[in-house]
Amino acid sequence: MIKGIKGVKDILPEETPRWRFIEDSARRWALCYGYQEIRIPIFELTVLFARSIGSATDIVEKEMYTFSDRDGSSVTLRPEGTAGTVRAFIEHNRVADPRPQKYFYIGPMFRHERPQAGRLRQFHQFGVESFGTADSRADVEVIALLWRLLSDLGLPNLTLEINSLGSSGDRAAYTPLLRSFLSQQESRLCGNCRRRMETNPLRVLDCKVPDCRAATESAPRLTDHLSPEALAHFDQVLAGLVAVGVSYRLNPRLVRGLDYYCLTSFEITSAHLGAQNAVAAGGRYDGLVEMLGGPSVPAVGFAVGLERVSLMLPRASSSSSNEWLYYVAAFGKIGTKLGLVLLDELRRMGLAAQCDYRATTLKTHLRQADRSNCRYAILLGDDEARRGSIILRNLESKVQEELPLAGLSTLLKTRTPPS
Ligand code: HAM
Repeated sequence: MIKGIKGVKDILPEETPRWRFIEDSARRWALCYGYQEIRIPIFELTVLFARSIGSATDIVEKEMYTFSDRDGSSVTLRPEGTAGTVRAFIEHNRVADPRPQKYFYIGPMFRHERPQAGRLRQFHQFGVESFGTADSRADVEVIALLWRLLSDLGLPNLTLEINSLGSSGDRAAYTPLLRSFLSQQESRLCGNCRRRMETNPLRVLDCKVPDCRAATESAPRLTDHLSPEALAHFDQVLAGLVAVGVSYRLNPRLVRGLDYYCLTSFEITSAHLGAQNAVAAGGRYDGLVEMLGGPSVPAVGFAVGLERVSLMLPRASSSSSNEWLYYVAAFGKIGTKLGLVLLDELRRMGLAAQCDYRATTLKTHLRQADRSNCRYAILLGDDEARRGSIILRNLESKVQEELPLAGLSTLLKTRTPPS
């Protein structure tokens, strides 16, 4: 037997109503905030991700699904959606469009991580990207959208953690200070952090290993070394969040695992998620469009991990299951023939209907009808066929009525309560 790949999950029919509920909410909130859907490819040239996410990040160093295409070019399954969205923004010259360019996407992403609860190799993100303004109100807007969505879904114990990563100039001035602090603490750091000290020292602050956290407790803080402009931007974002009623917790250790960020960076965490506690994350990336060959266009966005949302979603909110209205129980020689046509007529009218073709007797049909999630059964045997009628049976109350077969779907259409 051929099994699925580790960390790559099937989403079975029992779970899809839950997923639809989450995705529908995400779409609704995105549209409400003026974001339009974009669909970007699942795979892109490897260089796009290496250059944007950063060659010294965990994602690029060890988590990408990269392979040679038939023409020898190196391509990669997208580990996230920002890089592809920026590429599309540049390639289609969206900067020339005078309207605000605000996009959202929903789809699978791929990272070769060690699978565990809430961490998969194929997972799904809902993300938004807002291009074209450095105004702090855009930061507030994306965070508010994210907060409204997650609150609307009823996710428990959410915390918005926020930090400023300053401008690239701020980081260039701060990094030597941090590196010199870290080199004094080197013996207390884990192997990974010792390596990162050289390649990506800011990430050391984000390490979850308790000894590393203790060793960096008194590390110089980037927020104490922000330029006046970066500080003013951060203050405006925080004031905006207060104004729209989104509370936050300052986290000076918050350093994202992707290199393109500057200024505002944030995560939404929940104690409910255990080790993989970030349900969503994002920030500003004002230099990325230019770095990928486009004009200088500031941008800000976030992505939510939908598996993590699904893990946290209260049971009751996703109870709506797949529902059909009619089960057509057609049996007997003539009944079966007429049933085939009736089933199709109902569906053509837009009335959701189903039938189990394996059932050939009234008894087996009724058993399947009860299992089917349908509200009514339409009984059509040879006797009914001869009388030119059917029996409509309410599967809950068991009340039955006889109705004419001719024009039945039209009659039922007028009776169906609008859904
Ligand atoms: P990220 O922090 O790498 O950011 O991922 C965002 C979210 O995706 C995480 O908070 C988590 O919920 C989910 N996620 C990440 N990896 C996995 C995994 N292996 N299994 C399950 N869920 C996962 C980004 O991807 C940025 N592109 C966000 C962004 C958009 N920044 C600006 N715009």
